[in-house]
Parts: sequence; C-alpha cells; structure tokens
Amino acid sequence: MSELNQAYWDKLADVQSELKEKIEQDPWRLAFHQMPVTGWMNDPNGAVQFKGVYHLYHQYVPDDPNGGLVHWGHKTSTDMVHFEEQELFLSPDKAYNRSGVYSGSAFVKDDEIHFFYTGNVKQPGDHDYTFSGREQNTVHIVSKDGFSVDFEEVIIPHADYPEGFTDHIRDPKIFEKNGQFYMVLGARALNHRGKILLYTSPDLYKWEYKGVFAEGEKEMGYMWECPDFFETEEKDVLIFSPQGLKATKYEFENTHNAGYYLGRTDWEQTQFIPESEFYELDRGFDFYAPQTFEDESGRRILWGWMGLGDTSPEYSNPTVARGWQHAMTLPRELSVEQGILKQRPLKEYEMLRSNHQEKTVTIEGKFEMKTDSQQTFELLLSLDDVKDQIALHLKEDTVLSYDKQVFTLSHGPSGYGRSERSVEIKDLKQIHVIADTSSLEIFLNDGEYVLSTRVYPKQERPGFLFEGNAAVTINKWDLGK
Ligand code: FRU
Repeated sequence: MSELNQAYWDKLADVQSELKEKIEQDPWRLAFHQMPVTGWMNDPNGAVQFKGVYHLYHQYVPDDPNGGLVHWGHKTSTDMVHFEEQELFLSPDKAYNRSGVYSGSAFVKDDEIHFFYTGNVKQPGDHDYTFSGREQNTVHIVSKDGFSVDFEEVIIPHADYPEGFTDHIRDPKIFEKNGQFYMVLGARALNHRGKILLYTSPDLYKWEYKGVFAEGEKEMGYMWECPDFFETEEKDVLIFSPQGLKATKYEFENTHNAGYYLGRTDWEQTQFIPESEFYELDRGFDFYAPQTFEDESGRRILWGWMGLGDTSPEYSNPTVARGWQHAMTLPRELSVEQGILKQRPLKEYEMLRSNHQEKTVTIEGKFEMKTDSQQTFELLLSLDDVKDQIALHLKEDTVLSYDKQVFTLSHGPSGYGRSERSVEIKDLKQIHVIADTSSLEIFLNDGEYVLSTRVYPKQERPGFLFEGNAAVTINKWDLGK
C-alpha cells in the first residue's frame, strides 16, 4: 500500500524547485560538508562502504527547512570528500512507516546490504505520542546495491516490544560477535529512564529479545536515542544520544547531548559495563545523533548531525529563510588511545588544501595575519609556550581563547544565539580549525576534544587576529570544494 499518493510527489517537485531558487542565492551553502539539497536534514543513517563506494543516507525532509515527514536521503562517494546526490532511498509510503522513515543503520553480509530502520506511525486522535498513539516498528531491508530495495519486512512490530516501555523504542544498529548478530535499540522506559535494548539473530531475519544491554539512573536522562556499539583493542565503546541530562559547569549545555562510555561487555549476560564517565563527543553547539561504521580498510568512521532538535528559541539557523537547514559534520576517524577516545578529521579532506602558509611567531600583545580567502580554510596552531591567556579572532566575530586552563569558543551576532562553550584542558598544545562558509569544527590536542558549531558571518574579517602572550606555529591552508 502506498500512503504517499501522486499529489504528494507532484507538490514536492514544485516546493523543491521554489526552495532551490532561494538556495541558489545563499552564500552560506557549505563548500565541503554534506547538506540537504533542499529542506531539512537530521541524523546520519545507514553509513556504509559497499564494493568500494561510500553511502551516506540521512533523515531528510526535502520540502520543509523546519522538518516534517522524514525520508531517507542518499549520497554516495568514492573519496569521502565529494558526494553525489542520489534518489530518495526510502519514503514513508507503507502503513508501518507512514509518519516517517526514522533512523537506522546498514550491515554488509554476503554481498548484500541489510538495512534496519524504525517505521514511525502516529495514530490520529487525542494522544501524547509517548504513552499512547505511537508505533515504532523495526524494519529490515535487503539491497543488492544500496540503491534499490529487494526485500522489506517488519521484523519487530511495535506490539512485540517488551513490557515497561513508553512508545519510544527506535534507531536499530547492528553488530556481529562470535557468529551471532546483535541489534541495539534506544528506548524510553515507563519510569522515564533511558535504556538500550538488545536483540539477537542467527541470520539477520529472525530476531529474539535478549534484555537490557545498558541503562541509566535518573541523572542519565529519560530517553536514549541512536545507540551504537563497537569494540576496539583497548575498550568497548557505547555511543548514544541521551535526552534530559542536566548541564554541568561546562558540559551537557545543549538541549540534547551525544556521548559515549568506554567499557567492556559481559557476553554471558549480554550486558555492557561502563568503565568510564559518560563523555560528550562534541563540546560545541551543533552535534547530535552520531553514527559510526567500519569501512573496507578497517577504519571506524563517525558522522554526526551538525545540528540539534528542540533548540528554539535558544538559537537559530538563518538558512531556514533560504530554503534549507542543517548539515553533517565532516567524517571523523575514531580510535581509543590510552583510555581516551580520539576523533580526527578523516584525512581525505586534505585533498582540498591549497596555498599553504607556515609561520612561527612570538605573540606579545597583538598579531595580525592577513589572508585573502577567509571563508573556507584550515588553521593548525601549535602552541609552544603559552604565558598567560591567548585569543584568536576569526570569521566575523568568533573568538577562540585559552585562559587559566579553559578553552572557550564564543560567538557574536553571527552565531545567531550561540553564545559560549568551554572545555577544561590542562595543557593545550594544538588548536586545529576547519572552517567552511557557515561552520567551524575545532579539534583540540590532536582529537582529544572537538567543538562543532554553525556560524553565519555577513562579512569575513580580512585575516586572523591573535592576542596574548605565546609562541605559536601557524599552518594555514585554503580549503576548496
Ligand atoms: C534523533 C531522532 C531519532 C529518530 C529520528 C527522527 O535525532 O529523534 O531518534 O529516529 O531523529 O527523525
């Protein structure tokens, strides 16, 4: 049964062409980040490399920059830098997904890609959609090429979930261990605790409930979205996006957060045992619902949604008026090194570099570095000797500073309500900034911390202004498309 009739598709084509006209005028379109062609983008979905080709699917509302009925958009790449837009991969056209093809993942087995997603259904009537009125069905798809669907089936209908949960159970992610397949699902329990459910399968088709893989006390929030799990040589990593955490002095300040535990897994009990605190994956303003995958060379790669839901009126994205909103972060390579999860930009982006400049300077007071191109660039600062505080002014009115062992990112009006985010860091050695037209990703100490943010300058400054007292080696490149 197709629930999206021809009238929907006809209207979509018209709306998209109107949005495209606005978008063409927009200097804030990103040069090398993945963004929606028109409308709204949220979570990365189904990230996978298959027969050499990288596929990025994503939550996509092509006809409305404020979000709405979600499809899966689809982009492909052979170099992880340049992506080609593909036809919509999935649309809400079945009874079991009619209110949105929600997030999910991909798993390659025997020359096929198996996709798992959540079919969201909102029943009409007077419902709160937490305790009643919502179905979230887990759906399995098999595809031979990543473009067409060869098989589709509901494997866990909403009615079959265990007792004790609200209607919110979603975002399947698959992994394999000892010849068994496992699926983690994010959930909100009736007592408003976040949990991760575990299912198991011998063949990816038949699934059986195993129990709770991980859960939190009250301070860990009421809902855990988008779970992800992988093993490394040092530790197992459990990533999820909890909702309802309390902000601390410098952490969990966004409406919702995304982070991880390092730990180990008890495979007898099939339970994850955290051995670290819960760390935020990104300390900036725009990051949520990340997903990882292992590529054919064995790298663990993460994409995050460089955006956030439920933010208004705290901060906004002026691109809405120009027909689109949100983007993905650059893909990052993850590794656990001596108890720290490091995130580094995937090195392929270096092919965008040109006009390398290198300078070692002792800054005493002020130092201005003039540049021609300011919109899209990379700045790698090695701090040799920081005497007291240091500040770097870039873009229109953004400041990165380091003072009394606190690194701070602060925005002026071009942050559209984004104010300040800080990280306590004892010995800051390196600040690595990747700037696109309307985004900044700031990596500290070789991937120990990352801060992602959107920023909307109307006029770029003609260079960088440094203030403070420090010896710094500056490497700067322009970044192309
Ligand atoms: C996370 C999320 C997921 C859900 C999807 C719907 O941002 O809420 O839990 O599947 O977005 O678009």
